[in-house]
This record gives sequence, C-alpha cells and structure tokens, in this order.
Amino acid sequence: MQVVIIGSGNVASVLGRLCKQRGHEIVQVISRNAAHAKLLADELGCSYADYHEKLNDSAGLYILAVADTALQDLNESMNLGNKLILHTAGSVSKDVLKDISHNYGVLYPLQSLRKEMNYQTDIPFLIDGNSADTLTLVEDFAQTLSTNVTKATDDERLKLHVAAVVVSNFTNHLYALAEDFCKKEQVDFGLLSPLIKETAERIQHFSPATVQTGPAVRNDIFTIDKHLRILSNHPQLKNIYIKLTESISKG
Ligand SMILES: NC(=O)c1ccc[n+]([C@@H]2O[C@H](COP(=O)([O-])OP(=O)(O)OC[C@H]3O[C@@H](n4cnc5c(N)ncnc54)[C@H](OP(=O)(O)O)[C@@H]3O)[C@@H](O)[C@H]2O)c1
Repeated sequence: MQVVIIGSGNVASVLGRLCKQRGHEIVQVISRNAAHAKLLADELGCSYADYHEKLNDSAGLYILAVADTALQDLNESMNLGNKLILHTAGSVSKDVLKDISHNYGVLYPLQSLRKEMNYQTDIPFLIDGNSADTLTLVEDFAQTLSTNVTKATDDERLKLHVAAVVVSNFTNHLYALAEDFCKKEQVDFGLLSPLIKETAERIQHFSPATVQTGPAVRNDIFTIDKHLRILSNHPQLKNIYIKLTESISKG
C-alpha cells in the first residue's frame, strides 16, 4: 500500500516506521512545520511538504496523526475524494473526517507511543470505518501492522481512552512525582523498579481491586500519619496521597 503520513510527531513517526517495516511504501510526509516533516521523511526515504504545498494524491491511504485540536481544521482544508483517510485519536469521532473523503475511519493505537522508543511487540489497534466496506479495508490494513486489532465504535473508543489515561498517563505521573520525591529525599528511585514491574504483572492474572496492598486498604492510620508528616515538604504529592488513600479506603 502507498501511504501518506500527515503529521510528524510521536504517532506519525512510530506508524510511519511500522508501515515501512511491514512492506508498505511511505510516499510523503506532510506536516505543519516543514522542518519536522523533512526529518521524518528523510528517515522514511520519501518526499515531504507542509500544508501549503501539494499533497500527493496518488496514495492508497492517508494516516492523519496530528494533535486532536488540529483535526477539525484539516477537515475544512483537505479534500481527498474517495481516498481512505484514518485518524489516530482516542477521543475524536471518525466523523471529523467526513468532509475530507467518502471513505474514512480510525486507526487508534491503544498504546503509549514515543518516537524515541523502539517497539518490539505488537501495538494493539482499535479500528473503525464509516461503512462496512471501509471498515473491512481498515481491518485488512491494520492486520498488516499488528495481530492485535479490535473493532470499536466512537463511543467504545472514547471510554477506552478514559481508561487508558488512568492506567498509563496517571500512573506515569505518579512515577514522576515519586521520582522527584526520591531525588529530594536522597533515596534511590531505581530500587522501586521490581515493585513497579510486579504490580503491572500481577494484574495480568488478577482483578486489580482483589490484589490491592498498602496502608490504605489495611486502614493503617499510624503509617498513613507517618507518611503525611514526611510529605508535608511535598504538597503536590501529599494532596494526591490523601485523595488516593481516601479512594482506596472506600473500596
Ligand atoms: N502518543 C501517543 O501515545 C498516542 C497514542 C494513541 C493516539 N495518539 C493520538 O495520535 C495523535 C497524534 O499524537 P502524537 O502523540 O503523535 O502528538 P505529537 O507528538 O505532539 O505530534 C503532534 C503532531 O500534530 C501536529 N500539529 C500540532 N498542532 C497542530 C495544528 N494546530 N495544526 C496542524 N498540525 C498540528 C504537529 O505538527 P508539527 O510538528 O509539524 O508542528 C505534530 O506533527 C493525537 O490525536 C493523539 O491523541 C497518541
């Protein structure tokens, strides 16, 4: 399949590389900032352009991997006739593409993607299409990229996106706060690595609520008080500690 990548950030880079690895030909990278487009295009071995230049209109697929807020603007400025165009956003309806093409859909990677990372395992995709025929095309294409492809409506994808923010973005923020706390208190954050892995591994086998540990679930007020005292120098973390302790105690 000949593919045009629109965008040059994390998802554009990871999907561009994956498409190429799986035998598709990236024919153009288009991005708002031409220098960003060039960087990715050079890596993928194709031409590049910004939005003022001509879009390659001979490709079979257009992957629109741009900031959610930019999708509506592009809908108003692009026209691809019948060409298949897919966006990659978790919480934006596929219909944001309805004025660009008669064939549109979604290729949403249900994974946290950073362009500097090398992904060895299959990326899970949630897919959608504006008609049964389009959905079949999207599914066929997605299956060339991954063995983990699931159909999801706008509504289902939005709900999974909420859950994804909680399990990934929020936990990563907690890691960031804990790392900062460890640095300031001069203890080694790296020592927590086996604990982080064990917590994530365990919920592959058990429902999370059934394997909760720690002072909050034991209602251990004495330990919680000790923790709050040391956290008085770390107000942001203290606030979150109190909220999460309350949430765990409620069960
Ligand atoms: N990263 C993830 O883990 C992840 C996972 C699943 C889905 N997604 C979704 O994938 C999409 C892209 O995310 P990302 O992480 O790749 O974002 P990103 O790394 O921040 O890249 C954003 C891209 O959008 C372009 N852009 C930003 N504002 C724009 C505007 N106003 N007009 C036109 N282009 C604009 C940027 O172009 P320039 O650099 O040329 O300015 C850049 O190429 C989003 O819908 C996101 O929700 C992300």
